[in-house]
Amino acid sequence: MHKIKVDLKERCYDIVIGKGIVSGVKPDPSVFRPYVSGRKCLVVTDSNVKGLLGARLLKILGAAGADAELAVFKAGEGSKNIGTYESLLRKACKLGLDRSSVIVALGGGVVGDVAGFVAATYMRGIDFIQVPTTLLAMVDSSVGGKTGIDLPEGKNLVGAFWQPRLVIIDPAVLKTLPKREIRCGLAEVVKYGVIMDDKFFSFLEKNLCKIKNLETVTYGKIISRCCELKAEVVCKDERETTGLRAILNYGHSFGHAVETVTGYGKYAHGEAVSIGMCIAANFAVLNHKFAPSMAERQLNLLKALGLPTILDRGIKPAQIYGAMFKDKKTEKGKLRLVLPSRIGKVSLVKDADGESVLEAIRSVV
Ligand code: GLY
Repeated sequence: MHKIKVDLKERCYDIVIGKGIVSGVKPDPSVFRPYVSGRKCLVVTDSNVKGLLGARLLKILGAAGADAELAVFKAGEGSKNIGTYESLLRKACKLGLDRSSVIVALGGGVVGDVAGFVAATYMRGIDFIQVPTTLLAMVDSSVGGKTGIDLPEGKNLVGAFWQPRLVIIDPAVLKTLPKREIRCGLAEVVKYGVIMDDKFFSFLEKNLCKIKNLETVTYGKIISRCCELKAEVVCKDERETTGLRAILNYGHSFGHAVETVTGYGKYAHGEAVSIGMCIAANFAVLNHKFAPSMAERQLNLLKALGLPTILDRGIKPAQIYGAMFKDKKTEKGKLRLVLPSRIGKVSLVKDADGESVLEAIRSVV
C-alpha cells in the first residue's frame, strides 16, 4: 500500500493506493474505518460500476462500521446534470443524511464530479471520499477537489472546489475496464510527463509493453507518480488562481473544442485531449517554442498507446477554432493556452495569435 499526502493544511488528505484494497478477495475495511465508522454513508455510483463493485463497497463500509446505502444513476456524461444532482440531494434527505454523514463516490470522473458537488452543497457541505474506478479518475479527476455538473450551455459550468477527505485507489480494478477507457486515461498520463516530468515521460516510452499488457504493478507506479504530481500542483494553487494549476489543462482547450464540435460522442474525453495535445505541440513548434523532435516524441508515444493524433475527415478546423472561444478558460475573449517548451516543462500563454492557432489545428487534419 502506498500513501500520498495532499497537504492542504486543514483540508489535508491522503491518497491511498493498494492493489485489491476494494476488489481483492480480502478487501481492507481498515482504511475506511476512521472516516466512516458510526456514520451514515451514501455511496454514489453509476449503472456500469454498480454491478461490479457496488455491493462489495457497501459490505466493506459496513465492516468499517458505517451505515451505508447505494444511489445509482445512468452511466455517461449525459447524467452530469441538474436532474441527477437534484435526485441525489433528495435521496440524501430521504435517507436522513445529516452534517456528520459521508458521500462516497464510486466510479469515474462523472460520478466523482456529481457526487462531490452533492457533498459540497448538501447541508452546506459534508465529507466525501473518492473511490475512482477509471484510470482517468485515478490519475486526475479524483484528486484536487474540482466538483460540478454540466449545463446545456457547456461543460462544468456549475461547481465548487470541495476536497475529499480520502481517495482510495485500487489499480486492480483497471482489469475490468474496456480497452478504450484505459487509453483515455493514458492520454492524461502522457500529459503529466509533458507538463512536469521528463523522466516519467521516458518511463512511459520504455514500458509500452507492460502498459499495453495492463500490468498492475506498472499501473500502480504510473498512478502513484501522476497523483504525486497532481498533489504538488494542487497544494501550490488549489483554486487555479496563480495560473499554475492551469498547466493541468494542457491539450484540454483544443480537446474540449473537438468534443463540442463533434457532439460529445464521437471522441471520448481522453481521445480529444490526445488530439488537443498534438495541436498544442504543433502550435508551439510553429512559434519556435518547442523542438520538432520533441513534438514527434509526444506524437509517437500517443500513437503507440493507441490514441488518436489527427482529426477524422469532415471536421472543419474553423469550427474547432470557433468553439475554443466558448471554453470557460477563455479570458476576455483571449485564448489561454498551455504550451510545451520541452518535455517536462510548459508555460501559460494568455493571448495566443489566432492565425497560428488555426494553422496548428489544420496540422492535425
Ligand atoms: N483536471 C484538471 C484539474 O484538476 O485542475
